[in-house]
Amino acid sequence: MPASILSSGPEAYQRAADILKRGGLVGLPTETVYGLAGDARSPAAVDLIYAVKGRPAHNPLITHVLRPEDTCRLAHVSKSAEALMTAFWPGPLTLVLPRRGPQPKTAAGAGLPTIALRCPDAPWRDGLIKAGFSGQLVMPSANLSGHVSPTTAAHVAADLGDKIELIIDGGPCKAGVESTILKIEKDYAMLLRPGSLPHEAFVPFISDLRLPKRGSQISAPGMLASHYAPKARVRLNAAAKNSGEAYLGFGPYSVDADINLSPTADINEAAQNLYSALRALDTVGVIAVAPIPETGIGAALNDRLRRAAAAR
Ligand code: TXA
Ligand code: MG
Repeated sequence: MPASILSSGPEAYQRAADILKRGGLVGLPTETVYGLAGDARSPAAVDLIYAVKGRPAHNPLITHVLRPEDTCRLAHVSKSAEALMTAFWPGPLTLVLPRRGPQPKTAAGAGLPTIALRCPDAPWRDGLIKAGFSGQLVMPSANLSGHVSPTTAAHVAADLGDKIELIIDGGPCKAGVESTILKIEKDYAMLLRPGSLPHEAFVPFISDLRLPKRGSQISAPGMLASHYAPKARVRLNAAAKNSGEAYLGFGPYSVDADINLSPTADINEAAQNLYSALRALDTVGVIAVAPIPETGIGAALNDRLRRAAAAR
């Protein structure tokens, strides 16, 4: 039976809580992209996430807390991590911290001594608690492994609708690209994945912020060079379209554009539209993409586009 799609609200949160409590999976909207959620304590739910997505076992899952204070039981929280949590949670920041206690009984940690934690800005956090689920959620993006992340409930249904019971529809995601992942080490912090929150935001909190070298690829375990990819080949920095290509425009690069990510060259609007556009144009052999500025969330857009264009 295909997944039910329910609008955000108390009835949907109750259904979701019931499914999560018995080890099932739910598609949930967040401010970044839609996630595929399961109870972090349930080995069966975790195994199901890897199976449903076709995700390699070496790629660990982000644990999502319903309340920021739950973090202290799961990880060692340094002063700088605490300051970042206070400033940016709930929000699109994932912190990689030293795990507290032994490895979990589930496969979610991939054997690492660290744990990735995030508190999303989403009304279902309170909704699930009120409906009787107060654990943590492991929640990768709700797409088939390697495919473009979903930013609408319909995207989730297209990838996973025949494999899960419920998708909660919260409308299109506000940010449109995944959370920023920051690994907190003793004396410095390392950006593992550029994301919705531009790294410039961390400067007041971190004296030694290290960025991956431009063009360097694998940083987080499981972050493969070729990832976030449509089936079509992707050609970057294309000033115009060649015959037979679809053209993804941006701002003034609009001549013959099949879709313009933002006619007014607004980088945040472009981020909101990127994954929908890649999905919509994925009927052709080649998607040519206009130059996109690196400023702000543009760093994350260009990271995803480079991965989409990488040889597979
Ligand atoms: O915005 C987001 O973060 C979305 C929404 C649903 O919350 N989630 C998401 O999850 O993007 P996923 O699984 O698609 O990407 C998580 C990334 C992976 O690249 C994984 O390798 C990395 O986080 N990761 C997880 N645990 C880690 C750890 N302990 N150390 C380093 N990287 C880790
Ligand atoms: Mg993903």
